[in-house]
Amino acid sequence: MPSSHYFSKKPSSKDERGKIETVLRGKKYSFITSTGVFSAKRVDNGTRILVENMHIPTVGDFLDLGCGIGVIGIVAASLEPELCVHLTDVNSRAVQLTKLNVQRAGLSNCNTYEGYLYEALGDQKFDAIISNPPISAGMHKVVHPMILGAYERLNTGGVLQMVIQSNKGGKMLAGFFDDVFGEHEIVTRKSGYRVLSACKC
Ligand SMILES: C[S@@+](CC[C@H](N)C(=O)[O-])C[C@H]1O[C@@H](n2cnc3c(N)ncnc32)[C@H](O)[C@@H]1O
Repeated sequence: MPSSHYFSKKPSSKDERGKIETVLRGKKYSFITSTGVFSAKRVDNGTRILVENMHIPTVGDFLDLGCGIGVIGIVAASLEPELCVHLTDVNSRAVQLTKLNVQRAGLSNCNTYEGYLYEALGDQKFDAIISNPPISAGMHKVVHPMILGAYERLNTGGVLQMVIQSNKGGKMLAGFFDDVFGEHEIVTRKSGYRVLSACKC
């Protein structure tokens, strides 16, 4: 039976395209979207809060982990042209749309990958790893390995930032940040979401 989750490798739904026009960090963006990907009709509230508050280094390597249609990485890449932005997702349709959205935005500082967690990224290290993690895919199965992998793949001084709904495991996720990184910071709390940050110092 084919799976129809937004985190399926190959969504079984018909590829019905749409367009999202929005403003993020004071700048207009247009994203092509489709059925079978996360938040297909609008930029998710958690993603918006993360994007408005995330740390974007001016140079170095930035990873949008579980990129969906590419919102987080595309905003970072368009605001910081010297930054090398990597976007990866397990969902082949999301990856296809990210590639299209990167091209439409005219960005030359993005690399897009398809794969489970970090598997497509080789030995690449990062200065920032940013994610709206797929809680529905499993906290233990997917989100914890994302955090453990982030610690391994961040350069010294690099940061991991994730958004989560406070009543859908926010405190537990913060505890796991502490287990792996020794401490965490809450960058912002808004509309039932919190943005967590940890530094590999
Ligand atoms: C909550 S969505 C966020 C999407 C996008 N970053 C956004 O904010 O709109 C999480 C994303 O993680 C992806 N994902 C789920 N499991 C994954 C895994 N094991 N490896 C990589 N990506 C995964 C999903 O396909 C989905 O696109």
